Formats: sequence, C-alpha cells, structure tokens
Amino acid sequence: MQLYMVEDAENLAKKAADVIQEIIKEKPSAVLGLATGSTPIATYQELIRRFQAGEIDFSQVTTFNLDEYFGLEPKHPQSYHTFMHNHLFNYINVAEENIHIPLGVHKDLGDVEGYCKTFEHFISYCGGIDLQLLGIGNNGHIGFNEPAEQLQAKTHLVRLSEKTLEANARFFSKKEEVPQYAITMGIQTILSAKKIVLLAQGVEKAEIIQKLFQTGITTDIPASFLKLHPDVIVIVDQAAGSLLN
Ligand code: F6R
Repeated sequence: MQLYMVEDAENLAKKAADVIQEIIKEKPSAVLGLATGSTPIATYQELIRRFQAGEIDFSQVTTFNLDEYFGLEPKHPQSYHTFMHNHLFNYINVAEENIHIPLGVHKDLGDVEGYCKTFEHFISYCGGIDLQLLGIGNNGHIGFNEPAEQLQAKTHLVRLSEKTLEANARFFSKKEEVPQYAITMGIQTILSAKKIVLLAQGVEKAEIIQKLFQTGITTDIPASFLKLHPDVIVIVDQAAGSLLN
C-alpha cells in the first residue's frame, strides 16, 4: 500500500480526483467502483467542479457502488441510490444506464442471493473495475465487510455491526431506523479492482489508520486485506495520519 499524507480535506479531495481523472483520461470508458459516506463527498464535489470546467467527461464511464442498505427503496432519502445522485450523478454526464448500485429491496433471501450473483457477473461483463474508491470504517470495515471470524469473498447480504449502526445513526432520526443489514461487495470483489484508492480523513480515523499500517492481515481489520493487492493508494489527511510515525 502506497501512503500519501496530504495537509487537509481539501487536498485529499484534489489528490483523489487527480487519480480518478487520470484513469478516465487513459480510458474514457473506465469502470469506476464508488463509495458513499462522508469521506468521498468533497472528492465528488471536486469531480463535479472539474466536469463543469470541461476537464473530465463521464459520458462513457460505468460505475458500480460498493453497497446499499437492505430494505431501503432506491428513492428512500437515506438510500445510497439517493446519496450518489445527490452528491455526484445528478451533476455529471454519466449515463443513467451505466450506473449500478446494489438494489436493497428483495422478495426473499433466495432472491437476494441470486441478485448478488448477477451483480458480480455484471461487473465481470463490464470488464471489471478499473478503479475502486474506498472509505474506511472506524472498525476497519471496507464496503460493509465488517470485522468477523470469516470474511465473505463476493457480493452478499451482511448484518451491520453495532459500531457501524452507531456510526450511521447520525443520518437517521433514531438509531432504530438504521437498517440492520446491507448488501455489499465482498473482499474478493474489491481486490479484483485493478487499482484501489482508500481515503481517510479526520482524527476519528487516526487509530484505525495506525492499526492498518501496523498490523498484519487479519479479519479483525477487513481493510488489512488490501495489503494483498499490488496497486493500492491510501490517501490520508494529517489528522487521520497523526498516529503514524
Ligand atoms: C460506504 C462504505 C463504507 C464507508 C465507511 C466510512 O459506501 O462502503 O465502508 O466508506 O463506513 O464512512 P465515512 O466516510 O462516513 O467515515
């Protein structure tokens, strides 16, 4: 993993946008893996700014999102569908038919499992993900691959950990309203991306970033599996990197 420490959130967004812009410049039909959460919002704003300045063209780009809450309709205000449209897709020229976000509403468990397989096949059908953007949970999760004895390889339904439910409660009026399950890409799905960029900002991420760099590969820190990948860039601001030597 290659570490870049930048001064602040603004420079983190610029650096992440540079990497994304470079990929699209090299391959206008790039397949991007995208994340939600607070961390990439400034990066998406920077991409929108560059699109409006005529510096990036998303017309041939395809996107796959990492995850979606299980049980939320795409139009739900807290769904990741809504998040992605409000923070990025509504402001750039990506074609609606090229946007793929896991669907959170299903008839039954069999339907979810079949859907997860189709989602995986579709990523392969599109040629695989060229660049996967990631945030990191305070507990080391990537996507919603939570610390556990075993991690799942492929896209699957997952029960969210208490820590994640607490962290996500800020977006809902009550903790009880936070969906308990999500559909997420698995560790192998993420590791299959040709290039991975993990972003971390703010002092609340300092401890997990320290653990990520100072421990080996363990299912207690799902992000540690990124060490198996040959092309991972970790971009942190000074606050998130403050416990690194
Ligand atoms: C979001 C996702 C999550 C977040 C992580 C960090 O699609 O997959 O893994 O990246 O929870 O969230 P923030 O950026 O809000 O700290």
